[in-house]
Amino acid sequence: MLRALRHRKEVRRGLVMSGRHEKFYKRVVAPVMRLLYGRAMRDLFSAQTLEEQRVIYQRRIDGVMWRTLVRHGFSERILKFVLNDPGYRVTIDVDSVGDYILERVHHTFMNHLAKDNHWLAFTFLGRYPHRSTLPHYLLRENYEAIRSAPTKVEIVTGNLIEYIQKAPDGSLDKFSLSDVTSCIPQGGFDQIMRNIARVGRPGGRVCYRNFLAKHQVPEEARSTLFRDEVLSTSLTHDDKAFVYDIEVLTVKGWPARAA
Ligand SMILES: C[S@@+](CC[C@H](N)C(=O)[O-])C[C@H]1O[C@@H](n2cnc3c(N)ncnc32)[C@H](O)[C@@H]1O
Repeated sequence: MLRALRHRKEVRRGLVMSGRHEKFYKRVVAPVMRLLYGRAMRDLFSAQTLEEQRVIYQRRIDGVMWRTLVRHGFSERILKFVLNDPGYRVTIDVDSVGDYILERVHHTFMNHLAKDNHWLAFTFLGRYPHRSTLPHYLLRENYEAIRSAPTKVEIVTGNLIEYIQKAPDGSLDKFSLSDVTSCIPQGGFDQIMRNIARVGRPGGRVCYRNFLAKHQVPEEARSTLFRDEVLSTSLTHDDKAFVYDIEVLTVKGWPARAA
């Protein structure tokens, strides 16, 4: 309550747009894009077919200036400066953050319709240009399903490693680690996975996404946690969250003891 009062200006304006990251896209990236690629960007996000979009992207956007901007604009230094969070200690396994992001952006503009991708739209336009570009949770057609879904949520605020170490054997069947693993070094990640192998029920599902850290399930948990190769590969190539590698695992049998 006190926090809501302290940040009432942000609450009034809408929380979704008030994070440092979001402000960076709105106040820095989007104006630069408007200045340099105004009409081309508009056309890109209005293209109705992939063929049309590829022509716009290749002829009017992709080039030395675009590649330099993406490479340098999304470098490790800029990301750290923008986020400005001493707690955000990301493990970086890619050779160059800028090159990695450029490769993902290029793949997405060449293979997925921009007008349907809220992540792309927000990154380059700082807004959602059409109703169809909104994130899933804001799409009109998903409203009823979200409203009527049975939700029984118990919120626990704490350290994930400590939480999972204390959880009883076979007590959970779904794990969604949304970009948490990027901030956890390999040792901690291995501990989490060993414990998920113990805590997970047979047939349970685990989903985690890697940004710049490319953590894989440690050897000792692999006899229990099986990577869904097809789903993990297709999500990594095709999910709207185009900068992530998305890993999906299935819990098999009854797990061994974990550290
Ligand atoms: C990159 S943010 C992702 C935020 C959000 N889950 C998402 O998908 O956008 C990483 C989050 O992981 C949290 N985190 C890092 N280490 C953690 C730990 N050991 N236990 C619980 N949360 C942790 C950080 O506080 C931060 O909120």
